[in-house]
This record gives sequence, structure tokens and C-alpha cells, in this order.
Amino acid sequence: MLTTVALTPVDFKRWAEHLTRQIAESGRAGRPFFSPFEAVDFESPERRARFESRLSIPLPQPTWMRAWAIEGPDERFIAHLDLNASSIPAEKHRATLGIGVEEGFYRRGLGRKLMLEAIEFATRNHIEWIDLSVFRDNQAAIGLYRYFGFEEIGRRDDRFRISGRSVDDISMTLRIKG
Ligand SMILES: CC(C)(COP(=O)(O)OP(=O)(O)OC[C@H]1O[C@@H](n2cnc3c(N)ncnc32)[C@H](O)[C@@H]1OP(=O)(O)O)[C@@H](O)C(=O)NCCC(=O)NCCS
Repeated sequence: MLTTVALTPVDFKRWAEHLTRQIAESGRAGRPFFSPFEAVDFESPERRARFESRLSIPLPQPTWMRAWAIEGPDERFIAHLDLNASSIPAEKHRATLGIGVEEGFYRRGLGRKLMLEAIEFATRNHIEWIDLSVFRDNQAAIGLYRYFGFEEIGRRDDRFRISGRSVDDISMTLRIKG
């Protein structure tokens, strides 16, 4: 049985370890790129401080973050989703979403489970829009977002150059019905 956990500051280490494993899969072994970053120190003290403080910021104050993870059988995190508020008070009715599942756990409904959790959270907390960015050739993620009703609202061709490859980026958004 895989459990979904709403993260608190004490979860930082497991969160950072999962992100390190998950981001390392971007663009590897025939998979599309899904992150613009090639190497990130997720465990740095600055990231820990930001993680701890943003999780504690009450909604709808700017820069809050809420995150969920799925615990694998050995208690490590194998999937995550984060919702992030911008630093601009006039944008407080929106949040930006990030999600990732470790490869060994793809296509078992974990992405869908986390998306449901986030959409329910947004609905309860009067967030009216969820925004995200996704690389154009990331068909798995685009399929997941479309399943939940996200619509494509824009595209930036050649947004990133990753390992010498040009990557187009799509913006998608979901209107939450309160
Ligand atoms: C995108 C991702 C989160 C999907 O997670 P997942 O747990 O495998 O997805 P689920 O099993 O919940 O699938 C839900 C739906 O998403 C879509 N989907 C998932 N994988 C897909 C794939 N490879 N191709 C097409 N659609 C796919 C389908 O509609 C699927 O429903 P179905 O299985 O009934 O057909 C996962 O592939 C992942 O983490 N990829 C790497 C990181 C990433 O791309 N993050 C997003 C960056 S924008």
C-alpha cells in the first residue's frame, strides 16, 4: 500500500533525495527531458531554509508552498507534487504546479492520485487557477494534464537549450470551479 503524505518541514531530506533521483532521469535512457536543470543541489542549506519557510507560510500570503509525496514500501518518497504561490500579491488566486514520479513507478496511477490531491486542495482553498509549464515532447505529462482538463494557453519555441538540444515549452492552465 502506497501512502500519500502532506509534507511538513521535517520531510526535507526525503524530499530532496527523491528530487535528486527523479531529476537525474530527465532526458536519460530514451526519456524526454522534463527539467531545464542538468545538475541541482537539492540538499543545500538554502533550499532547506526555503522549503521549511514556504511550507509554513499561510495561504493566501505570497510565496506559500504546499507539497505531497507518495511513500514507497521502504519509506522513501517515490513521487511528489508541489503547488507554489507567486511573490506577487495580485496573483494570489493562482498557483503553479510541479510533479514527478520515479521511473520504476510510472503508469500506476500515482500521478493521477497526486493531481487529485492538489486539485481538491486548490478547490478548498479558493485557488481559482493552476498553471504549469511542460516540454512539448513530454507526452506522458501532457496526457496527464489533459486528462484533468488543463488547456494549452501558449508555447515558447526554443525556450531551453539542454545538452545542446533545443526544447519547446508549453504553458497550460486549469480553471478550478469552486
Ligand atoms: C508525467 C508523470 C507524472 C505521469 O505519472 P504516472 O504516475 O506515470 O501517471 P498515471 O499512471 O497516474 O497516469 C495518468 C494518466 O496520465 C496519462 N499518461 C501517463 N503516462 C503516459 C504516457 N507515457 N503516455 C501518454 N499518456 C500518459 C494517461 O492519460 C494516464 O491515464 P491512463 O493510464 O488511464 O491512460 C510521469 O510520467 C513523470 O513523472 N514523468 C517525469 C517527470 C515529469 O515529466 N514531470 C512533469 C514535468 S512538466
